[in-house]
Formats: sequence, structure tokens, C-alpha cells
Amino acid sequence: MSTNITWHEGSVTREERETLLRQKGLTIWFTGLSASGKSTLASALEQALLHVGVASYRLDGDNIRFGLNKNLGFGPEDRTENIRRIAEVGWVDWAFGSPSALAGNCLVMIFPSLFTSTLHSTLVAITAFISPYREDRDSARKLHEDNGIPFVEVYVDVPLSVVEARDPKGLYKKAKAGEIKEFTGISAPYEEPLKPEVRVRTDEVSVEQGVKMVIDYLVEKGYVA
Ligand code: PPS
Repeated sequence: MSTNITWHEGSVTREERETLLRQKGLTIWFTGLSASGKSTLASALEQALLHVGVASYRLDGDNIRFGLNKNLGFGPEDRTENIRRIAEVGWVDWAFGSPSALAGNCLVMIFPSLFTSTLHSTLVAITAFISPYREDRDSARKLHEDNGIPFVEVYVDVPLSVVEARDPKGLYKKAKAGEIKEFTGISAPYEEPLKPEVRVRTDEVSVEQGVKMVIDYLVEKGYVA
């Protein structure tokens, strides 16, 4: 528990930053089973946005577990903590007004490559985590919305039979053989989103079509021009 700490306000508000940079910060939150296509879609979306000049960065479950969240496993409590940390990372960059406020934040040290390049920007954060618990995703949404930041939940909705057949890392096979415990969809739950902003069936549409569905939603809402 941290004690004797003081909150430092920035000198530029988020609204001023958004006006100056002509870009609105938001988080696009991909959720779905392992091998559903979250990372592929998130990566393609990041590329598409960057190519039209929208500053964005991507946080991916597997990657984050190499660093910031390397001490977390896949039990319910650790998954909740995983998602809580990511939700904080998602909104923190544009919630703080000035780089000086951010410079004091430990996230800059944890994610130097992510944050030094984007420190002065108003960003679109793209996250790709299984995030199996509805309550955890709803907490992430609330954290954003309480701070006036749009939260776009994208449900990568694919039947279990399809991801089991894909099984690119052989994890479903191992889980079914009992070699991986608490594996989502096999021996751990996945709670479907009830009202996602976008639903993509990656067994029915191409990556390009899936990205277009998300971008169409962002344009319709006026989040990107
Ligand atoms: S979670 O549930 O949101 O905390 O999971 P996440 O951080 O997205 O990590 C998912 C990736 O971890 C690998 N992996 C497992 N997934 C589910 N259950 C268990 N037990 C497990 N063990 C390892 C797996 O490669 C997931 O990657 P994706 O990209 O989702 O396939």
C-alpha cells in the first residue's frame, strides 16, 4: 500500500489536449476466447488507424504477461487483477493533463517504449485480453466512463468448437488433456458481453471486414473522422 503520496494536477486539461491535437482519446477493448482473433484484429486495427494518422497503441494479453503482469496467473483473482491493471493503463494516459504529471507515474517506467513515443498524444488505446469476467470488464468500462473517456467493447464472438479446431498454440489440446489448469472455455468460464458496442464473428468475416466494422462504429460515433 502506498502512503504519503500526493496527486499532482497537470496544467493542460484533457479537453484542451484533445482540441489542440484534434484527436479524442478512447479505449477499444477486445474480449473473447483464446484464439478467437483478438490479437489479429487489434493489430490490424492499430495499423489501419495509424495509417490514417490516428495515434494509437495496443496492449495485448500475452505480451503484457511477459512484463507488467508477469506475476499473475490464470486463477479468478489474478485475472481480475490483470484486467484492473490494464484498465488503469488504458485511461491513465489521457486522464492526466501534462507530461510532467505522467513523468512521475510509474507506468512510464514500466512501459518506456509505449509511453515515451506517445507521451504528448491523445491516444486510442487498443486492448486484447480474454477478460472473461463481465464484472471486470464492467469495472474497466466504469473507470473510463467516470472519467469521460469512451469505452468501446468489441466482442470477438466465435464458437468454442471453432477455436478448439484452430488451436494455434496447442493450448486447447493441452487443457483438455488436463495439462493446463483453469483454461478459459474448457475448465474456466467465459462470460459473454451482454451489450458490446461491436460484435465480430471472425469465422464469418475477414480481418479487413472486422476492422472495418470497428472503424465504421468509431466514425458513426464521431470518435474518428
Ligand atoms: S485474461 O483471462 O484476460 O487474464 O487472459 P490474458 O491476459 O488475455 O491472457 C491470455 C493468453 O494467455 C495464454 N494462456 C491462457 N489463456 C487462458 N487460460 C489459461 N489457463 C491460459 N494459460 C495461458 C493464452 O496464450 C492466451 O492468449 P490468447 O491470445 O488469448 O490466445
